[in-house]
Order: sequence, then C-alpha cells, then structure tokens
Amino acid sequence: MERFLGFRALCLLFVAIAARAQKAPLPRGIDFECLGNLMTFSFDKSVLWGRSLDIDAVGGTDIIPVTEKVASQCGFSRTSDPWGNTKLYTSVQNCFVQNTDDVFDLTLRFRLSGSALSAAVMHTVSESCTYAAWASREVTCTQNYMEVSVWRRVPTPEITEFNEKGVALEVIEPDEEVEADSLLQLWKVEFHTGRPKTMSIEETRNHGYGVAATLTRLLLRSPYRTAETTSMQVARVPMEVIIASTYIKRKWMVKRLDSAAACPTGGVTFTEEMITWMLPLRISPLLSSTTFNLLAYHLGIDGKRLDAATMEARKYRMTVTDLHIVVEIPLGSVDGYYKSQSPDYQYYITYSIEPMLELLWREDAMHDDTRYKVLFPITTPLMARPPLVIDKTTEEGKVFHFCVGNFLPDVELVNITFETTVLSIAEANSRGFDVHEHLFSNGSRFWGALVPFSDPFVHKGNAAPDVTAYTLQVLFGFVILPENTPFSHPEVLQAYRRDVVLPTVTATCDLEYFYVTVAYGSQGHNFQTVVGQRELTPEIAEEYQYAQNDTHFSITVHFLARDAVFEMVLASLVRSRLNVVLKSLNWNFNDFSLTCSFPMTMIECLSNGTMNALAVKVESVPDLNPSELTLRDPQCKPAYSGPTFALFSFNVNSCGTTRTFVSDHMMYENEISLPRGKATAPADHYMLSVSCSYGISATYTLPFSTKPNPELHVDAATGVLKVQLQLSHDSSYGVFYQAEHYPVVKYLREPLYFEVELMQTTDPNVELFLENCWATSEQDRTSLPKWDLIVDSCENLADPYQTTFHPVFGDARVQFPSHFKRFEVKMFSFTVAGVPLKGQIFVHCDAVICDTNSPRDRHCSRECFDKQNMSMTKRARRAYGQQLKEWVIAGPIVLI
Ligand SMILES: *[C@@H]1O[C@H](CO)[C@@H](O)[C@H](O)[C@H]1NC(C)=O
Ligand SMILES: *[C@@H]1O[C@H](CO)[C@@H](O)[C@H](O)[C@H]1NC(C)=O
Ligand SMILES: *[C@@H]1O[C@H](CO)[C@@H](O)[C@H](O)[C@H]1NC(C)=O
Ligand SMILES: *[C@@H]1O[C@H](CO)[C@@H](O)[C@H](O)[C@H]1NC(C)=O
Ligand SMILES: *[C@@H]1O[C@H](CO)[C@@H](O)[C@H](O)[C@H]1NC(C)=O
Repeated sequence: MERFLGFRALCLLFVAIAARAQKAPLPRGIDFECLGNLMTFSFDKSVLWGRSLDIDAVGGTDIIPVTEKVASQCGFSRTSDPWGNTKLYTSVQNCFVQNTDDVFDLTLRFRLSGSALSAAVMHTVSESCTYAAWASREVTCTQNYMEVSVWRRVPTPEITEFNEKGVALEVIEPDEEVEADSLLQLWKVEFHTGRPKTMSIEETRNHGYGVAATLTRLLLRSPYRTAETTSMQVARVPMEVIIASTYIKRKWMVKRLDSAAACPTGGVTFTEEMITWMLPLRISPLLSSTTFNLLAYHLGIDGKRLDAATMEARKYRMTVTDLHIVVEIPLGSVDGYYKSQSPDYQYYITYSIEPMLELLWREDAMHDDTRYKVLFPITTPLMARPPLVIDKTTEEGKVFHFCVGNFLPDVELVNITFETTVLSIAEANSRGFDVHEHLFSNGSRFWGALVPFSDPFVHKGNAAPDVTAYTLQVLFGFVILPENTPFSHPEVLQAYRRDVVLPTVTATCDLEYFYVTVAYGSQGHNFQTVVGQRELTPEIAEEYQYAQNDTHFSITVHFLARDAVFEMVLASLVRSRLNVVLKSLNWNFNDFSLTCSFPMTMIECLSNGTMNALAVKVESVPDLNPSELTLRDPQCKPAYSGPTFALFSFNVNSCGTTRTFVSDHMMYENEISLPRGKATAPADHYMLSVSCSYGISATYTLPFSTKPNPELHVDAATGVLKVQLQLSHDSSYGVFYQAEHYPVVKYLREPLYFEVELMQTTDPNVELFLENCWATSEQDRTSLPKWDLIVDSCENLADPYQTTFHPVFGDARVQFPSHFKRFEVKMFSFTVAGVPLKGQIFVHCDAVICDTNSPRDRHCSRECFDKQNMSMTKRARRAYGQQLKEWVIAGPIVLI
C-alpha cells in the first residue's frame, strides 16, 4: 500500500484505514467516471435544482468539509451550469484518496440542502479508479488549481541550475527508495517564482499549497495568483507559473526535488461564430532543453477525450502551428450551452463550453515524458441580442399584430406595460390581447400578441388629414430563469389607416343669406372653423345663428356680413363669396368657398336727379373702413355705412358731380374714394366711379368702372328724362288741360298755347329745345296731311304768322326756365286745299336736350337757322348724328 505523506493534519487517520470502503450503487442522478488521472462525479440538475451541494471527504469517522480553500489545496474542482448540472473533478492524487497499487479509492459525502420541493439529504459514496499510466511528470490545470506530480527518481535539469545557486544537494540512488515510508520526511519548499521564498511544509500548507510525496512521486498543488506564483506571457498566451524545489529529509540525507507547473489563464479569442483557443506549443517554463517532441495531443470536452469522428461532426478543429496548438470551436456546439444575461436590464447572451487539451511531450535529453492536461472552461463575453419586434400589422386588420423575440429558452415574458398600466400575461389575455408563445426548432422562443386599434391603450392621431396614425407604446417585461433576472424592452408600434371621413361643407344661398352646413366626418367636431378671416368663436357663432346636433352644425351668414367678400358688383346685383375653412392645428381639412349673386341695386338714378350709390368693400382693399369714404367733395359722406358697405345719396348738381353728353346721352359721374390723407398705403387705394346715364326715350347702357379695382365691375345705371307737351288754357300758362279733359274742344279762331317741359331734372345746365313740331289729323305722327309748326327749332318760316314762341320766366312752378318751351299756334292755319280744317288734330314735337355749356351744340344756340341755307343746316345736323331726342304728343284737340 502506497499513500501520500503529507497533509498529515487532515489525513493521519486515513493512514490507518486499510480496508477499502464498501461500494454502494450511486444515487439516481449522480454519475461517476474515471478520466485518466481525474475522477469525476456528475450531478444532474434534477438532483441539485434549487438546492446547494456541500461535499465532505470521509475517512473512517473523520469527515472533512471540502471548502473552497481545501478544494484548491487538495485537488477538487467543481463547475456548474446555471440550471444546476454540476461536475466535480478530483485528482486521483487528492488529499483523501487511498492508493493501493495505483488503485485509488475515494469516499465522499454529498450534503444536499433542503428546498421548497425536497428535503435535505446526504449521500455517502465510495468510488475507485485505476491509473497506472503515469508519465514522469504530470501537469494538470483546472480552473482553481495547478497540479504537478513528478517521479521522485527523476534527476531534473533544475538541479544543475540550483546547484549553481549553491543549494546543497544530495542525489539519492534509486535503490535507496525501497526504504520504509515512515522514514521519509518532507522538510521545506523553496519557491522560485513570484516572491522567492522558503517555507516549512507547515507554512506551505498554511499558505494553501498542497505538497505530498509517496515513495515514487512528489506532488505540488497551487491555487492561481498566489504570492509565490508568477504571471507571464508564453508565446503571447498569459500563463500562471509556479516553480518550486521540495526538500525531503531521510535520515541524515536531504533530497531536493524540483517541480514546475504552468497553466494558461487566457489565449481565447471570440467571434460571433467561433471560439479560438491557443495554447503555447512549447510551454517554456516547463522545458529544459530545446529539443522537444510532441508525442500526442488530444482535444476533449468536460475532461473527456473526443475521437476524430466526433470532432469532425461537431466541426471542432485542432491545429498545430509553429508556436501554438490552436483549437477552434464553433459557437453553439452541443457540448456547451447558451445562457441569457441582463446585467444592465438589457438582453445579452453568452455561450459556455469547457474544452480540455491533453498533450504528451518528450524532451530528448532526458527521455522523460510530460503529460500536460488543461481543463479550460470558456464563456464568451456578453453578446448583445436586442429583442426584435416584428410588426405584422396589416392595413385591413384594425389590430396591432406583433411578435417579440428571439430569446433563449431561459427567458420568460412576465408582463406587458401599456403606458403606465402593467398587465400580467393572464391579464393581457383576459383583455383579449391573445399573447401566445412560439418556439423555433432550435429552442428559441418569441411571443406574439394582438391589440385592437379600438383599445384605449392605442393612441389615435392624424398622420395626414384623412389618415389615422395608431400608436401603441409597450414595454415587455421579461425574466431570465433560473436566476429571475429582470429585463425589459420598450417598443412603439405605429400603423396608419386611410380611414378618416373628413368633415365636409355644403352651402346654399337665397336672395340674402348663405346657408352653410358642416358635416363632422368620422372624427367628430375635432376641427376649428374659420369663416372669412375669422375663427368661429362663440360670439361669432351667435352672430351667425349657429346650430348643431351630433353630426352637423350650421350657420347662416348674410351676404353683407363682414366675413363675406364682394367679388363683382353689377348695377343690380353683387357677387359675394363666403370662404369657410375647417382646420386643425396641422391640417386644413376643407377649404370651401361659395359665391352667390345677390340682387342689390348698386346705383339708382332717379328722374328728379338724385343718385343713390352703394360702395362695397372689396377683397383688394381689405382694411377699408367704408364709413370714411366720400364723394369727390369730401364733405359728401355716406348716408349710411356698415362694415362692408357705404350708401351715398346725392343730387347730380352737388358733391362735385360732372355731367357730359355722350352722343345722345347725358352722363353724370362722380367718384367714391378715401379722402386725401386717409389712404396711406397703395392697398388702401379705393376708387369707385359711379355714373348715371340719362337717355331720352330709349335706354342705353354704358359701362362705368373703378380705376384701381379691376375686379370691381359696375354696370352703368340709366335714367330716363321725361318730356311732356301740355295744352294751356291761356297765354298765362298757369292752367293746363289734364288727360281727362281730352279731347279738348277749341274754336277755330282761338289760338292754342302749348308748353313742352323737361320733367323732374334739377340740372340747370341742360336746356330743352324743340326741333320740329307739327300737327296731324290722325294720332300717327307720320300720317298725312301734316302741318309744320316749328321747323329746325324755328317758327315755320313758310307761314310766319301761324306759330309764335313765348319766352319762359321762372316762377313757383318753373324752377329752371331752360327746361321749358312755349309756343302759340293759330288754328286757322290748318287748311286743307285752302279751306280751314274742322275736326280733330294731334300736335307732335321732337324735343332735344342740349348742354348749354357746350358751344359745339347747335341746337343749343338760341338763334334760328337761316331758312335759305337749309343745306348747310342739314349737313351740320347730320354731323351730330344721334340726338338726345324725345317725341311728345298732345291731342286730340277738336276744332270747331
Ligand atoms: C433559432 O432560430 C431562429 C430562427 O431561425 C434564429 O433567429 C435564432 O437566432 C436561433 N437561435 C439560436 C440561439 O441559434
Ligand atoms: C414586470 O416585469 C419586469 C421585468 O421582469 C419587472 O421588473 C417588473 O417588476 C414587473 N412588473 C410587475 C408589476 O410585475
Ligand atoms: C343633424 O343635422 C343635419 C343637418 O342639419 C341633419 O341632416 C341630420 O339629420 C341631423 N341629425 C340628427 C341626428 O338630428
Ligand atoms: C327725388 O325723389 C326721391 C324719391 O322719390 C326723393 O326721396 C328725393 O327727395 C327727391 N329729391 C329731390 C331733390 O327732389
Ligand atoms: C348759306 O351757307 C353758305 C355755305 O356755308 C354760305 O356761304 C351762305 O352765305 C349762307 N347764306 C346765308 C343767307 O346765310
């Protein structure tokens, strides 16, 4: 029986144990395997789920808890995945093993703490492994310790080196090793790395190192990063190195054994697809000669070698370069596992795997082999996997349909926050959101949900006037199992639907009002209304007889209201336009305008010479205040004015009115404008020409216009001058026969006194002339026989005593004498074939109206034309063309 010297404090009792512990079958969920110089226990997560595992080493009645410190000192290494699958590796040379001819027996006690689901339990297990294939030197690296076991009889090259340092050395001959182990005594350890130091065995162990010796082997075990280890780069790979000399006393002799271990602490690089692990090919701290022969190398996982076929199938690659052994492991291979992480509330994943490299090399000089084994757990850095939200909403759907993924199977969706309301999945489902999970074949999961647009969590707004934007703010709350680490993912979902029925405006007019009806559309009364230039405030609404129901409102606007604008003005109507705009903050929903014609007399030309003119505010002079308008004479102000109009009433002989004769018309004109000084800007320039055209007998229309307001169009107004021929009772021209007195009966010897009057007008500058007067016996003015009374404005010279003009003087009845002509006719002059006529006659006159101020108008010269020079008169008359002429008739007068 061979056993380790050392670890005496712990193991003394073990020494006495001769018999092997009884082997019992392993409990369910715990497996055991011998992996070369390692013994491994595997615990399924079903055993450890939610519990903690404590391990004790058992030797007879002695039970020693394997704490973290004991583990690195005694050769226990433990790895777990997040779900509780646990592996316990322990060296066949651990402190508690019983070694009988390279059969290693180990008894351990597993203490499983109680949990909500299962009671506390203890299992004591005894297992054994055989390991005889010892190399001269065996170096093992696990995550928590470095171990080197050397054959005691091997003279190591370090001896020479240390000789030079003057260390006393005595080489023990191999045959001396057969001596009883009780005579061997570990004396001291001299560390050559880190802080060079010599410690007694006791001190060495107190510092956490494991030192032990059998008759054939010496063992040194060290945790990483102690004061006596050193970190160095070997072929650009960071390694932790320990080199020590152990002194063994035997009787009077001292033997020195050198040992060195070097384990990688890095050398891994990552891409999204690949883990690359490089181990130096020549681990120089362990080599003494330059000749180096790599005999074998193996890749393994979890301490277990892989065969070539498996490596091929899993796409693992191992290559030997000049400097390194390079291992490439694709991310996601079945031997490792993915894990979700959320250190900062964001979602990440990592991938973990525990590869192993096993090398066997020989240094020619020594003919000694080194078996080098590294168990090297690798976890990738955090790889951000921001959750993806896939929006599957369709335009027809009226429902937000979205999915959030992809997550590892260890992620659970626990709640969804809508704005500030947190709903558990069950609550979301009872609200009808149909939260459902999907699984990919690779185990990835995502969740889908449906939220109807009609839900109050969905915000509605307008993206365009007729497009509704639906917005849903969600915050998905997740946890990562089994740690219950929370993280969340916010998302704003948007969908657009052209589903808005816009408000519409319809309107009609009658002779005075615009009737406007607004239909709200699908979004209710969510708009402002602008009538003309003004927003429809409650006050204005009242002014316009606002009425409403759930779907419509209506207003009634008078065409003279200030919000209506005049587009065009004709003599007897205006075209007025009402603009209605429906708008929101961002959009105009509807620009509506309706133009209607409203009958309105713009200019009235009364026969008595009064002109009534309406000036209206037009679009082009928006700031006009109609009450400030005047006629040419600034004293002539509106008789009445409102916000949009001013009414003027004035006589043609006042207010700066001018009069002109245009062919056979008489035209009175004036202008309405802002008095000088009021119009400051060009935009204030308002000028409306108003005119009355008086024709006699026939009516003519003449356009008259405003100068700077081309859009304002006013047709000419016309008036008629009335002329009447009356028969006076006598030469005093005081009493006249009225219509009911006809036929008037007269005796032949009585003269007839006629008066022709231009009625009503008050213009002193016009004069009435009689161009021709004649009598007929029939009412038809062209009938024959015909007796000339006045010819070309003069008494008929052919019969000089028949007709006589009488001057007219003003009196109570005659205001303007120039408007009158009187003449007397002696009746016996009506003869037929020399015999005075008896019977009825009608008297006709052609009356002409002249401008007394115009020297060009011959009719207005008071002289009669020379009857000898008719040709000239006729020519002259022709030159004047049309005349302002009226035909009047009096009769019948019966002559007896
Ligand atoms: C699983 O499959 C999905 C869909 O093909 C993919 O998006 C996801 O990245 C895969 N997950 C892993 C961990 O490979
Ligand atoms: C919702 O889930 C998140 C993430 O897991 C968590 O932090 C939060 O406490 C949960 N809220 C409620 C009310 O459960
Ligand atoms: C609302 O008013 C509009 C127009 O005035 C009318 O057509 C509609 O029928 C009214 N609706 C109701 C519900 O009274
Ligand atoms: C002219 O006639 C109108 C209407 O008959 C009347 O109002 C006005 O006073 C008259 N003007 C004059 C100057 O007689
Ligand atoms: C008639 O008119 C002609 C041509 O103008 C003129 O020469 C002549 O003197 C006139 N006769 C009389 C009598 O005025």
